[in-house]
Amino acid sequence: MNSCLLVLILVLVPAQTRFPFLDRLGPGPGPGSSDPAQARAVAALLRRLLGSRSGDFVVSVNRSLAGGTSPGTGPAGPRTDVCELRSLRDGRVAAAGTSGVAAAAGVHNYLKYFCRCHVSWTGNQLTLPDPLPRIRGVLRISTAHRFRYYQNVCSSSYSSVWWDWTRWQQEIDWMALNGINLPLAFTGQEVVWQEVYRSLGLNQSEIEEFFSGPAFLAWNRMGNMNRFGGPLPQSWHVNQLALQMKILSRMRAFGMIPVLPAFSGNVPPGILRLFPGANVTRLGPWSHFNCSFSCSYVLDPRDPLFFRIGSLFLSQLVKTFGTDHVYNTDTFNEMTPPYSDPAYLSAVSRSVFASMTAVDPDAVWLMQGWLFFSNSSFWKPAQIRSLLRGVPIGRLIVLDLFAETEPLYSSTQSFYGQPFVWCMLHNFGGNSGLFGTVEAVNAGPFQALRFPNSTLVGVGMAPEGIEQNPVVYELMSELAWRREPVDLAKWASLYAARRYGTGGGGSAAGNLTAAAWRLLFAGVYNCTVPHYKNHNHSPLVRRPNLHMNTELWYDPAPLYEAWRLMVAAAPDLVQQETFRYDLVDVTRQALQVLMSSFYRDVVDAFRSKRMPELLTAGGVLVYDLLPELNRLLNTNRHFLLGAWLGRARSLALDEKEAALYDMNGRNQLTLWGPGGEILDYANKQWGGLVEDYYAQRWSLFLQTLVECLDAGRPFRQDAFDRAAFRVEKGFVYNGRTYPSQPQGDVLEIAQRIFLKYFPQALKRL
Ligand SMILES: *[C@@H]1O[C@H](CO)[C@@H](O)[C@H](O)[C@H]1NC(C)=O
Ligand SMILES: *[C@@H]1O[C@H](CO)[C@@H](O)[C@H](O)[C@H]1NC(C)=O
Ligand SMILES: *[C@@H]1O[C@H](CO)[C@@H](O)[C@H](O)[C@H]1NC(C)=O
Ligand SMILES: *[C@@H]1O[C@H](CO)[C@@H](O)[C@H](O)[C@H]1NC(C)=O
Ligand SMILES: *[C@@H]1O[C@H](CO)[C@@H](O)[C@H](O)[C@H]1NC(C)=O
Ligand SMILES: *[C@@H]1O[C@H](CO)[C@@H](O)[C@H](O)[C@H]1NC(C)=O
Ligand SMILES: *[C@@H]1O[C@H](CO)[C@@H](O)[C@H](O)[C@H]1NC(C)=O
Ligand SMILES: *[C@@H]1O[C@H](CO)[C@@H](O)[C@H](O)[C@H]1NC(C)=O
Repeated sequence: MNSCLLVLILVLVPAQTRFPFLDRLGPGPGPGSSDPAQARAVAALLRRLLGSRSGDFVVSVNRSLAGGTSPGTGPAGPRTDVCELRSLRDGRVAAAGTSGVAAAAGVHNYLKYFCRCHVSWTGNQLTLPDPLPRIRGVLRISTAHRFRYYQNVCSSSYSSVWWDWTRWQQEIDWMALNGINLPLAFTGQEVVWQEVYRSLGLNQSEIEEFFSGPAFLAWNRMGNMNRFGGPLPQSWHVNQLALQMKILSRMRAFGMIPVLPAFSGNVPPGILRLFPGANVTRLGPWSHFNCSFSCSYVLDPRDPLFFRIGSLFLSQLVKTFGTDHVYNTDTFNEMTPPYSDPAYLSAVSRSVFASMTAVDPDAVWLMQGWLFFSNSSFWKPAQIRSLLRGVPIGRLIVLDLFAETEPLYSSTQSFYGQPFVWCMLHNFGGNSGLFGTVEAVNAGPFQALRFPNSTLVGVGMAPEGIEQNPVVYELMSELAWRREPVDLAKWASLYAARRYGTGGGGSAAGNLTAAAWRLLFAGVYNCTVPHYKNHNHSPLVRRPNLHMNTELWYDPAPLYEAWRLMVAAAPDLVQQETFRYDLVDVTRQALQVLMSSFYRDVVDAFRSKRMPELLTAGGVLVYDLLPELNRLLNTNRHFLLGAWLGRARSLALDEKEAALYDMNGRNQLTLWGPGGEILDYANKQWGGLVEDYYAQRWSLFLQTLVECLDAGRPFRQDAFDRAAFRVEKGFVYNGRTYPSQPQGDVLEIAQRIFLKYFPQALKRL
C-alpha cells in the first residue's frame, strides 16, 4: 500500500470507532427529545434570537439522516453530527440536522458566513440581509467529533452561581448554536445530597455546617472546603431544584447529553458519628485554608459504605432528574491520594465505577484529567494507568482539561486506551483580561486526532469562568466543525466584520477594526510562552508590594496600535453593543499595561528616595488612571460589580439571605476565604470594584511609601499586609450598593483616556 493512502486513512477514520458504547449515548426517542421535539426547540431558539425573521428558516431533525456517521466508517460507524442547509424556492433556508444541536450549529454557521452576523456573551450583531442570501446547492456542516464538551466544575461558582432561568436559557441557546452536546449540569445537586444525608440519619445542623455558601459550592463538591459562606437557605434549594429541572429539559430538547454529578467519597464529618467504623481519612488543609473550613473527610472507595452512599445518591439523583448516563466525579482533585500503590488506585476507580453501574448499568464516567497535571510528582505512568484502567475501556472519558498548554494525552499513550476529550481551559478564576493561545487552539485538536492510536472522542471548552474573551470561544467552537486549521489573520478580520456588522464592503471603520483584530491576534491573543497560565497577575488587581511581576507574554506596541484603531473607529461603531464592549476591553487592557509602567516608576522613585517622582507617578495612578478606569467600566453592563451583586441579592427571600449572598459575591472576587486564603484569585476589573477595592488598596500603598520616605523608615511589607487586609475586609462588608445599570458616555470617556494616555503609552514602550 502506498504511504500517502495510509496517511489518508489514519486521518479519515477517527478513533471513535473503537468505542461503540459511547455511540449509543444520546437522547432516546422519548417525547421530550424526539426528532420533531428537537426541531421545535431549535425553531423556538431562532424566535428568541431573530424575532420575526426566524420565519425565514425551516428546521428539521432526523437522527438517521444519511451521512450522520463519521466519514469513511459506513452506516454502522460512530454517530457524529451533520447539518445540511439549502435555499428553498420561496427564499427561506431549510436546515436539516442529525440533532437539534447540529441544526442550530448549522444555522449559526450560515448566519456567520452568509449573513455576517454574530452571537456572543457580550452582545449580538444580528442585522439580517433581506431576503436571506441564497445557498447554491447544499451547504453541509459536519464534525469529526462525537462530543463537544462545555464547562468546568468551577464555572458554576465563578460564573453561573447567581443566574436565573432567563440567563440560563440564553446560555443553553449559545451552547446549541456553538454545537455543544456534552455540557455539565451541576445545578441543584445539594437538594439531592440533603435528602441523602437526611435519610442516612444526619441532622439538619450537621448538613448545614457542611455545605459552603453558593459562591463556593464548586470547591465544597470537590471536597476542598466546607461551611464557609454558608449555611445554604432552604429557599436556595427550592430555587436551584426548579432551575435544574428547566436546564435539563432544555438541554435534552436540543439533543444534548447533560452530565450529572456522582459521588467522590467526600462526606460530612457527621458520617463518622453514624458510622464510627467507616474507613474515612481526614485530608490535610487545601490551598491556604486551615482546618476550620477545610481538611475534608474522605471515605475509602473500597469501604462498602462508599458503595452504599454513592448508589443512594445516584439513584435519588436519577429519580429526581432522569439521566443521560454520563456522570462526572473527581476523586483526588488537588488532593494527594493516601497510597500510591497501583493496586489501590485501580481498586478506587473500580469501586467508584461500580457504585455508578449498580444504579445505571449504562453509566459512563467523565473524569477531569486535572489531577494528573496538578501533582505530576505523584501521578507517574503506573499510577495514571492503574487509575484509568480500573474502569473498562470505553466507559471512562477523560477530559484533557488544559490541552492547549499542557496536553496529557501525548505523554500517557492517549490515556492508556481510555477515550478522551481535548479541552481548552483558557481562563482561570474568570479574570478580566485579553488572552488567548490561538495558535495552540488552532492546531491542537487536529494534532490530537492524528496522534498514533489516538483515543480522541471530542473537543471541549473548560474555562473556570466565562463572559470574557468571547472571540476565543467562538474560534474553538468553530474548529470542532472544521476539517483543518483556519488562517488566523483572515479569521480575525472576518470576526471583526461579523461582530460590528461592517460587512465586506471595506468601509473605513471596517478596515480599522479588522486591522485592530489582526494585531490583537498576532499579539495579546497569541500567547506562546510554555506552561503559561492565564491568571491575571497585573499589579492592578493584586495586593501591592515592591516586587510585583509586570512581565507580559506579548509586545504592548501592537496592543496600543489596536487601541488607536478602535478609538478611531469609535464614532462610526459606538451604536453597536459588541463594539462598545470591545472599546472598553481594549482600553482597559492598555490601562492595565500602563499601570505596570507607573508602578515601576513608583518603585524606582521609592528605592532611590526621590519624593517628587514618587508623588507624580503615585498621583497619576491613584487620582487619575484608576478613577478613569472605573468610569470607563461603569459605562458597560458587562463590567459592573453592581450587576453581579444585584443578581445575587435578587435570589434572596429576605434581607438576611441577601446579606449572605452579598458577602459570598464580594468575598469570592476578593479575599476568597475568611482571611484572604486565595486572595484575588478571582479578580475582576469591574466598575465599583476598581474604585472601592483595588484603588483603595493602591492608595494605601502609595500613602505608606510616601510616609516611609518622608520619615526615612523602611517599608514593612508585613505591616502593610495587615493594613491592606483591613481595607479588603472593609470592602466585603461596606454595605454600599453599586450601580447595576451603565452610567456615562463611553465614547467621551474612551476618547478622553486615549488623548491623555496614548502619548504616555508610546513614550513608555
Ligand atoms: C430520515 O433519514 C433517513 C435516512 O436518510 C430516511 O430513510 C428517513 O426517511 C428520514 N426520516 C424522515 C422522517 O424524513
Ligand atoms: C445534631 O447532632 C449533633 C451531634 O450529635 C448535635 O451536637 C447537635 O445538637 C444536633 N443538632 C440538632 C439540631 O439536632
Ligand atoms: C482502611 O483502609 C486501609 C487501607 O486499605 C486499611 O489499611 C485499614 O485497615 C482500613 N481500615 C478499616 C477500619 O477498615
Ligand atoms: C504531590 O504528591 C507528593 C507525593 O507523591 C506529596 O508529597 C506532595 O505533597 C504533593 N504535592 C501537592 C502540591 O499536593
Ligand atoms: C498502536 O497500536 C498498535 C496495536 O496495538 C501497536 O502495535 C503500536 O505500537 C501502537 N503505536 C504507538 C505509536 O503506540
Ligand atoms: C479599506 O481597505 C480596502 C482594501 O485595502 C481598500 O480598497 C478600501 O479603499 C479601504 N476603505 C477605506 C474607506 O479606506
Ligand atoms: C504567533 O506567534 C508566533 C511566534 O511566536 C508566530 O509564528 C505566529 O505567526 C503568530 N500567530 C499569529 C496569528 O500572528
Ligand atoms: C483558621 O482560619 C480562620 C480564618 O482565617 C481564622 O479565624 C482561625 O483563627 C484559623 N484557625 C487556626 C487554628 O489557625
